[in-house]
Order: sequence, then C-alpha cells, then structure tokens
Amino acid sequence: MISEFQHSDLQVCVLAAGKGKRMRSNKPKVLHKVLGRAMIDYVLHTVESLRPKGIAVVTGHASDMVQAHVGQPRNLEWVIQDKQLGTGHAVRQCEEVISDVRDVLIVCGDTPLLRSETLAKLVSEHRDRGAAVTVLTAEVDDPSGYGRMVRDADKQVSGIAEEKDATDAQRMIREVSSGIYCVRYNVLFDLLHKLGNCNAQGEYYLPDIVPLALQDGRSVGTVRMQDATEMMGVNDRAQLSMVEGILQANIIHDWQLRGVTIEKPETVRIEATVNIGLDTVIQAGCYLMGSTHIGDECRVGPYAVLVDAWLDDRVEIFAFSHIHDANVAMRAKIGPFARLRPGAQLDEDVHVGNFVEIKNSIVNRGSKVNHLSYIGDTEMGADCNIGAGTITCNYDGANKHKTKIGDRVFIGSDTKLVAPVEIKSDATVGAGSIITKKVEAGGLTLSGRTDQHHIPHWQRPRKKPC
Ligand code: UD1
Ligand code: CA
Repeated sequence: MISEFQHSDLQVCVLAAGKGKRMRSNKPKVLHKVLGRAMIDYVLHTVESLRPKGIAVVTGHASDMVQAHVGQPRNLEWVIQDKQLGTGHAVRQCEEVISDVRDVLIVCGDTPLLRSETLAKLVSEHRDRGAAVTVLTAEVDDPSGYGRMVRDADKQVSGIAEEKDATDAQRMIREVSSGIYCVRYNVLFDLLHKLGNCNAQGEYYLPDIVPLALQDGRSVGTVRMQDATEMMGVNDRAQLSMVEGILQANIIHDWQLRGVTIEKPETVRIEATVNIGLDTVIQAGCYLMGSTHIGDECRVGPYAVLVDAWLDDRVEIFAFSHIHDANVAMRAKIGPFARLRPGAQLDEDVHVGNFVEIKNSIVNRGSKVNHLSYIGDTEMGADCNIGAGTITCNYDGANKHKTKIGDRVFIGSDTKLVAPVEIKSDATVGAGSIITKKVEAGGLTLSGRTDQHHIPHWQRPRKKPC
C-alpha cells in the first residue's frame, strides 16, 4: 500500500525498552504477538506509513532479541537505554540521533491498535495550533493504569497524574493520556533535561514535560481520539487478549466486506498476516494462521487449522483437518480429519480423505488417498488410487527414504511400501502386500501373503466360567 502521508520534517521515537514486568515473561513485551504478529511490528508499520524522516527505536531489556526480530530497515536507528529509568529518560537517549526536524512524535511500542490516520491528525493539529507539546488523549470508561489528564478551572491541561501518584480525586478522571506525544524538536530535549524523578516510581516520567513546558510559558494542547480502543496499551496478558479480540473483530469485519463468508465469526481466528479470496466460506472454529493464503471460492472447516498453508481456488478443506506449510492446488478436497505436514504438495483435483497424513510429498493431479494412510517422502504420479491403510515406510530409524509411484497406479488396501522403493506406472499392488522391491509397470503384484488355510475344528479360547 502506498502511503498517502509524507512527513519529511518529523522524527518518530518508539519506546520499547521496558521489560514489561506485568507480562511475567522471559521475552520483551513488544515481541509478544497479537494475532500472529509482534506488537512492535504493528507499531513500526503504523509509523512507517507516516513516511517520517527517521524512526528511533529505544530498546533496553533484551534489546538483542528485539533488534534480531525487526532487522535493520533503512530509516530506523536503534537507541539503547541501558537502565529503564522511565519514559522521559528513554526519549532523552535519542538526543544523539534526532536532529533537524520540526517535531518529534513519541509513541509506545505496546499499542498495536494505533492507526496512522490518528497519528497524522495529532501531528497536523499540533502544527495548526503552533503548540510546543500536544498529547493524544482519550475518554475511557475505565481509566485504571493510565495517566489522568489534569485540567485547571479553565479546562486547560496542567499536568498528567500517573496512576500511582494520583490523588483519589484525580483517579476519578476519565480523560487519559495515550502516552503518545507530538513535541516541537527545539524544546523537547530542554524539557527532558529538566525532568526529575521524585515520584511514586522513582522514574523520569515523560508526562512531566507537560507542566515543565507550561512553566516555560509554552503552549500545551491535546487531541482527543475518536475511538479510545485504538490507544489500548498492553501491560499484561489479560490486556493482550483484549487487544487481540478487538483486532480480530476488525479483521473479520474487513474480510466480510471484501467478499468472504465467515460462519460463527466469534469462534474463528484469522491472523493479521492471512489472505482470503472472494466467495470463500470459512466455517466455525477455524484457525487461519501465519502466511496462509486461501484462493477464491474455497470452503474451509468447520474446525480446520491452517498454518502457512497455500490453497488455490475452489479447494475444499473438510472438518478437523490440519494443514501446515503445505500447498493445495485447485479443486482438491482434503479431510475430514486429514493432516498435511510441511512439504506436502497436492496438485489439482487430488482427494485426501479421513485419517490421512501426508508429509514432504508430491501428489500429482487427480490422485486419491482416501482413507487411513501415511504418505511421506513420496513422489506420486497422476490418477493413482491409494487404498485404505497404505503406509510408506520411509524411516529406518536413522534415515528417511523415498518412495516413487508412477501414474495410474492402484495400491490395494493395507499395503506397506518399504522405501526406498519404486512402483512403475499402471501397476496394481494387491491388498495386504509388503513391497520391498521395484514393482514393474502394469500387471498385478502380490507380496507378503501366505496361502489361505482353513483349520476346520479350531476354537477360539474361551473364558473359564466362574
Ligand atoms: C504510560 C504513561 C501513561 C500513559 C500510558 C498509556 C508514563 C510514565 N506513563 O504508562 O501516562 O497513560 O503509558 O499506555 O509515561 N519504556 C521505556 N523505557 C523505560 C520505561 C518505559 O522504553 O524506562 C517504554 C515501555 O517499553 C513501553 C512504554 O515505554 O513501551 C510505556 O511504558 P509502560 O511501562 O508501559 O508505561 P505505562 O505504565 O503503560
Ligand atoms: Ca503501557
């Protein structure tokens, strides 16, 4: 998507150094995922679409993990905050990397619902009013955890009271700070150098630039968000799931408007990274995850799990099937209760039925594996019929071996194909065979059967009467 924004005189500062203690996690908070995508990725995508001059990302706790995850985009500078002494202290660490801009936009790495349109509005209103500091605020029903916007008798902002420092009266205030600021560059670092840490958390609070700016006679403005859910910050896992719920509802709504039918949408998970074609039907309880792509006119579910799966058009995935890192071509039918594992490539019109597992195998056009089979490390031609209970014995305990099956092969039920082995085109293998050697083209091959005997007076063991 080409962004409609251009802010070449704006620098963005993303705060992502905190440990996120309330997450109770070994990994940094901003790497926690919301619908399959790390929180920091949402925030970076949002600020990137403003097309600013540059983006400084402040990391500290497990910064190597955050940097390894994000990589090194062209206009991104990493800033290390060794000790997490507060949000104001974090921004101060950016002094070296920020220069020659009109304004600095400060956002937190833990607000994945934030939209670029909202940030653009903050910047433009800040500039229109000629303010030194502008705070993005919201009116919420439950303000707990947020900094409260404290206003004087004339309704002018006088400061921001953090939850832990607020008086009982201030705690009642429902107008809160989003933690997002637009600040004129030529005043920002002056203000930050004046910050103290005499507060309940002993931290250098970024919100304290508001009273400091007012003391210097500078103007402080606020921009109220239309939709308060956008600024929801994730501090613990309960908030993580709330944010995920909101994002999920938005994603489902978007797909519905783009021509996808979603049955029982409240039971479906569709990650932010998934693509779905026109007239496709997603049934109840489906999980569509990772880079999954679904073509037009497909039917998936109910209760199918697709992870990094690729489905062409008109594919049908029946109930309780699990597809991971596999490709399925047009009109193929999979399941119910089928499992396609990494490297399964099914061509057009292939049918895979119940309790069939396919791994690292090519199944060519029109072939059918309809019941209770395991196909691994196999190359199968077109129009084959693989009987119930066929197993490719691909593993000898140390190595994997290949099975090669030609076109129009018929494998009878309960056959073991002990790899490495080849079945030539048009061969028929009788039910119950154990195939260890090459099967020639055409004809019938039988193996592993003893002749059928009948022992007329044989009796099954009986339980002794008590
Ligand atoms: C912060 C704001 C609060 C606002 C809320 C909105 C402060 C003191 N409080 O509270 O006014 O209502 O966000 O969600 O600013 N961080 C650093 N270095 C630090 C401390 C924090 O980079 O030393 C980063 C964190 O990683 C996080 C962000 O700053 O991404 C905000 O910190 P957090 O601890 O989540 O602040 P809140 O308590 O949510
Ligand atoms: Ca927060």
